[in-house]
Amino acid sequence: MKNIYKPIEATIEDIIDETPNIKTFVLKPREPFEFKTGQFIELTLPGIGEAPFTPSSDPNVKEKIDVTIMNVGRVTSLLHNVSKNTLVGIRGPYGKGYPTDEFAGKEILIVGGGVGLAPLRSLLLSLFAQIDQYKKVVLRYGARTPSDILYKELIPQWSKKKKVNVVTTVDVGEKSWKGHVGLVTTILEDLPIKLNNAVSIVCGPPIMMKFVTLKLLDLGFKPENIYLSMEKNMSCGLGKCGHCRLGKFYVCKDGPVFSYEQLQDVRDIWD
Ligand SMILES: Cc1cc2nc3c(=O)[nH]c(=O)nc-3n(C[C@H](O)[C@H](O)[C@H](O)COP(=O)(O)OP(=O)(O)OC[C@H]3O[C@@H](n4cnc5c(N)ncnc54)[C@H](O)[C@@H]3O)c2cc1C
Ligand code: FES
Repeated sequence: MKNIYKPIEATIEDIIDETPNIKTFVLKPREPFEFKTGQFIELTLPGIGEAPFTPSSDPNVKEKIDVTIMNVGRVTSLLHNVSKNTLVGIRGPYGKGYPTDEFAGKEILIVGGGVGLAPLRSLLLSLFAQIDQYKKVVLRYGARTPSDILYKELIPQWSKKKKVNVVTTVDVGEKSWKGHVGLVTTILEDLPIKLNNAVSIVCGPPIMMKFVTLKLLDLGFKPENIYLSMEKNMSCGLGKCGHCRLGKFYVCKDGPVFSYEQLQDVRDIWD
């Protein structure tokens, strides 16, 4: 049986520049690696350290895993400087992923902000693989500027798929930008979905998740139909050290995906 606590070796096969500070790393693990969309892995850069990331690739593909990483600090900046063929370690998968079985027959609203589109790409790819099971997939994505938009070539392809509706916005436009300008909450009006049969999934920076959740509640989404991907500083990733505590939950073990119903009474949820 696979030991999820022991890192397995993986080679960085490709590195894709997504934005000025976000890259996608295509990893080829030494053995097939299974994960459920929304679960996370601990990625080790040998001799440097490790950090948690949620794969951004299709969970049906086990031979390669993509992780889309924003450069924010020590481990991530060193990762951004490695070259192809570097060896890394991956352990996991950990936590609970998106409850995709519960989404069958529903209209699914996915709201992403910034690098939060990374785990959502994995979710989208798993939904696209079984699109007949779902009524509709609606993606609303916000980035700071046009150059901060992730997966610039993929998003137009997604929007052409059957049963899929996509709108992207930027906080600040540029001369060549012809799309929507405004925070992601401004493109949550007039959604092409029926609320009585819809679920929503939100991932992005805490401040964005807070205002999107308030907006969704305002629109009439019930707390149990809003799913959030929570991020907390992690250490063990195994529910043992307490670093990732959120109210009575450990994000690593009980999450990182929670319904808002689970978290609504937790103080400091958006810190
Ligand atoms: C379950 C989970 C999934 C994640 N998935 C992704 C992903 O797909 N892509 C991605 O780019 N990032 C993701 N993150 C965030 C990523 O883990 C942190 O950016 C990374 O650990 C920072 O490490 P560092 O050594 O570069 O930064 P540090 O030098 O440790 O810190 C730099 C800054 O980042 C903050 N920070 C550090 N660790 C975390 C953390 N674990 N969560 C949030 N903020 C942190 C610090 O407060 C500090 O402000 C995820 C985090 C979690 C918990
Ligand atoms: S990271 Fe140690 S308990 Fe969650």
